[in-house]
Amino acid sequence: MNDIKVGIIGLGYVGLPLARLFATKFPTIGFDINETRIKELKSGVDSTLEVEEELLKSVLVNHPSELKGLYISHQLDDLKSCNYFIVTVPTPVDKNNRPDLTPLFKASETVGKVLKKGDIVIYESTVYPGATEEDCIPILEKVSGLKFNEDFFAGYSPERINPGDKEHTVEKILKVTSGSTPEVGKKVDELYKSVITAGTHLAPTIKVAEAAKVIENSQRDINIAFVNELAKIFNLMGINTHDVLEAAGTKWNFLPFKPGLVGGHCIGVDPYYLAQKAQEYGYHPEIILAGRRLNDSMGEYVASQVIKCMIKQGIKVNGAQILMLGVTFKENCPDVRNTKIVDVIHALEDYETQISTYDPWANPDEVIHEYGIKSVNQLNGATQKFDAIVLGVAHQEFRDLDFESLKKEKAIVFDVKGIIEGTVDGRL
Ligand SMILES: NC(=O)c1ccc[n+]([C@@H]2O[C@H](COP(=O)([O-])OP(=O)(O)OC[C@H]3O[C@@H](n4cnc5c(N)ncnc54)[C@H](O)[C@@H]3O)[C@@H](O)[C@H]2O)c1
Repeated sequence: MNDIKVGIIGLGYVGLPLARLFATKFPTIGFDINETRIKELKSGVDSTLEVEEELLKSVLVNHPSELKGLYISHQLDDLKSCNYFIVTVPTPVDKNNRPDLTPLFKASETVGKVLKKGDIVIYESTVYPGATEEDCIPILEKVSGLKFNEDFFAGYSPERINPGDKEHTVEKILKVTSGSTPEVGKKVDELYKSVITAGTHLAPTIKVAEAAKVIENSQRDINIAFVNELAKIFNLMGINTHDVLEAAGTKWNFLPFKPGLVGGHCIGVDPYYLAQKAQEYGYHPEIILAGRRLNDSMGEYVASQVIKCMIKQGIKVNGAQILMLGVTFKENCPDVRNTKIVDVIHALEDYETQISTYDPWANPDEVIHEYGIKSVNQLNGATQKFDAIVLGVAHQEFRDLDFESLKKEKAIVFDVKGIIEGTVDGRL
């Protein structure tokens, strides 16, 4: 393991923590095409809040040929001396929910340009089974002029991190590994084993490892869709869903899923990757796509429930002032990608209400840029009072919020996440 030099392609939520970790053991080059990101990382700042400044600075080095540590770069030349490449670029869907492999193809072109005999290229991005060998390897072969499994080799090791989770950090999560030949599988496994303290699971093939990741997230999506459906049913029946789940949860094998909005670019996206591949094989997935449909409909459903609550309370909907608490896709994390709060906001606006959005975590510039929605980081000094308050994201800050001071006389509070202690007028 003495001659290993790691190149990480894509320094986002997944790539940066991984690069930081590998840099404690091997010389590591962190490569990204986003120059703003490169600049902030070089100064020790991670705007995704996944790696703390002190920790990042402890591994940063100023030259690509240092024997240990992390060199951050957007120059292709700096990748030339690496012999293990790890690709951690985004795998989104397009507006029709079809997999968009463009970043993966571009990253493969980048690696192809610096690939040498004996090198190993490991993909970490979440994909459908077959994406590595059928879609990416041909690009590596074409650009490098080298032959797969003779001159260079591949692996797939899905990432399981959970943004904002300071307990389950990358080294503490057991990692699935795989390789394009049994020997390469062992090499890839050894590489990860050397830094992942939780250990590894070597899968028999790349396709098995790819499939394992995509079903982990699809399983969560389907389970959440089921409890979302239960919430819709129990709301009609006037039964509190959270009470039902608490009671049912006393059985040893009842799964503890909660209803909610499924956003972000993992759980709400990955099932489409599996569905697309299944369709290519002539199978139309029913459960997977039904789960997606149900979860994607929840934004509008939440808005309709809020409006119902307001009408019941005798609040005039047209022109009502509504405070939306949270806009990120999940709690205690600044990530606003594919957030379903936006669906709630748009649906509420369709009822001619006025929405103010407060999120202490989200970057207001990013929110306006991505969604055209104005958000603020602070409510301090706000004198405005609202007809309705919707708690959309379970940020820590909202647990201690003084709701009474923000309410007009007849106002309602709607708790999407079920975290408010005390009386609320509606919940999912
Ligand atoms: N965020 C998560 O919680 C999480 C968890 C597990 C798996 N994943 C998967 O990991 C992959 C990466 O996700 P992420 O959240 O880190 O994305 P991200 O958007 O946070 O980061 C991706 C980075 O890649 C860079 N990039 C894009 N194209 C590039 C290219 N051609 N060359 C070099 N850099 C490029 C971007 O500038 C960005 O900095 C996705 O497939 C995702 O599904 C994400």
